[in-house]
Amino acid sequence: SPLPDLVVVGSGFFGLTIAERCANELDLKVLVLERRHHVGGNAYSEREPETGIEVHKYGAHLFHTSNERVWEYVNRFTDFTNYQHRVFGKYDGQVYSLPLNLSLINVFFGKSHTPDEARALIAEQASEFRTEDASNLEEKAISLIGRPLYEAFIKGYTAKQWQTDPTELSPDIITRLPVRYNFDNRYFNDKYEGLPVDGYTAWLERMADSPNIEVRLETDFFDVRDEFQGKVPIVYTGPVDEYFGNSEGRLSWRTVDLEAEVVDVDDFQGCSVMNYNDQGVPYTRIHEFKHFHPERTYLPGKSVIVHEYSRFAEETDEPYYPINTAEDREKLLRYRDLAKKEPMTLFGGRLGTYKYLDMHMAIGSALSMYDNKLKPHFTEGAPLT
Ligand code: FAD
Ligand code: NA
Repeated sequence: SPLPDLVVVGSGFFGLTIAERCANELDLKVLVLERRHHVGGNAYSEREPETGIEVHKYGAHLFHTSNERVWEYVNRFTDFTNYQHRVFGKYDGQVYSLPLNLSLINVFFGKSHTPDEARALIAEQASEFRTEDASNLEEKAISLIGRPLYEAFIKGYTAKQWQTDPTELSPDIITRLPVRYNFDNRYFNDKYEGLPVDGYTAWLERMADSPNIEVRLETDFFDVRDEFQGKVPIVYTGPVDEYFGNSEGRLSWRTVDLEAEVVDVDDFQGCSVMNYNDQGVPYTRIHEFKHFHPERTYLPGKSVIVHEYSRFAEETDEPYYPINTAEDREKLLRYRDLAKKEPMTLFGGRLGTYKYLDMHMAIGSALSMYDNKLKPHFTEGAPLT
C-alpha cells in the first residue's frame, strides 16, 4: 500500500487532534497506529455490560478548561453536560467536603469559624515549621496547613499514593496546599466544565471519523517502524524512552490499579468520588460512575463502583503519572537531545514528553504543534523539527 502523508503513533487526545487537523484542514492521508484494541488512549470509556453505566477504563476523566480555543474545538465533536466535580473524603469515621475548605475545618475542629477565625487558627498551627526550612514533604505540608489537618487529610493519603512515608518524600512534590476560607467546594476553577453527553468514546471516535484517517488498532509502532521511519513524517505520542530503546534508562512512573464491581444498591456512596484518607484503608478512592451522569436513566438497584489503588509502575504496567525525580529529569534531557536528532519525528503528548497533561492541555498542545510545525511543513515546506 502507498505510504500515508503522516503517521501518528497513539490515538489519545494528542494523536487524534493532530490526525483530525491534518486530515480535515490540510487534506492529508493520515495513518494512526494504536497498540490497544480501541482508540482514545486513557480517556477511553465503555458501558459496563450488566448495568449500562459508563465506566472510564483508565481512571475517572473530568473535562475542564479555560482555554477558549480548546473549548471551541472540542465542541465540534461533542456536547457537554453541566456536571460540576466535587470530591468528598472519609477520615476516622467522618465524611468531609474537599478540597480543604471552611466546611471541612468546622466539622474537623467541631465548631463554627468565621473565615478570619479559621485563617488565624491555621496560621497558628502552621507556625510549627517555616516552609523554607522544610526538609521533607511532611514538614513542608505542616508548614503550610499545620499538623492536625496534615495528619488527617495529607499524611495517610500521600503515603498510599506514593507507597512511601511522607518524611521520606521530597518537599518539592507539593508547592502549595491551598485552603479555601469559604464554603466553595467545586474541584475545578476553570471557566468551562462538563462531561461529554454521549460519552468519551463517541467523542473520540468522531475525531477519527474522516475518509482521510485510517486507524490501525492492535498495532505496535515498534513492530512496523521500518515501513515508515525516515520515509514519512511521524508524530509519536508513545513513551519517549521506549522510542530510543531505553538507551538512557527507563523513566519512572506511578500507576493505579482499578477494580470495578457491580453492587446491588441504587446508590453506594452518594457522590462520584470518595477519597479514603485513613492509612489503614488500602485503596485511595472509590469512584461510583453513575454520579458522573445524573441526567441518565439507570436500572434500579444496581451501581458500579471502582476501587483505586496507587503504586509504582513496573515495566509491564500502564504508565500514569510521571514521578519526575532528579534522575528522571537528567534522563529526560538526554532523550530530548536524541529527539532533536530525529528530523522526521515529532514527540508529543503525555508519554512523548514525560509530563502529566490534562485532556485540555494535551489538545491545546497538539493544536500548537499543528500550527507551529505541521502546517508550515506541509503547506510551505518548512523543516519539520
Ligand atoms: P494517552 O491518552 O496516554 O494516549 C497515548 C496512546 O498511545 C495510547 O492509546 C497508547 O496505547 C498509544 N501508544 C503508546 N505507545 C504506542 C506504540 N508503540 N504503538 C502504538 N500505540 C502506542 N485529564 C483530564 O483533563 N481530566 C482528568 O480527570 C484526567 N484524569 C486522568 C486520570 C488518569 C489515571 C490518567 C492517567 C490521566 C488522566 N487525565 C485526565 C489525562 C488524560 O488522560 C490525558 O490528557 C490524555 O491521556 C493525554 O492524551 P495523550 O494522547 O497524550 O496520551
Ligand atoms: Na509555617
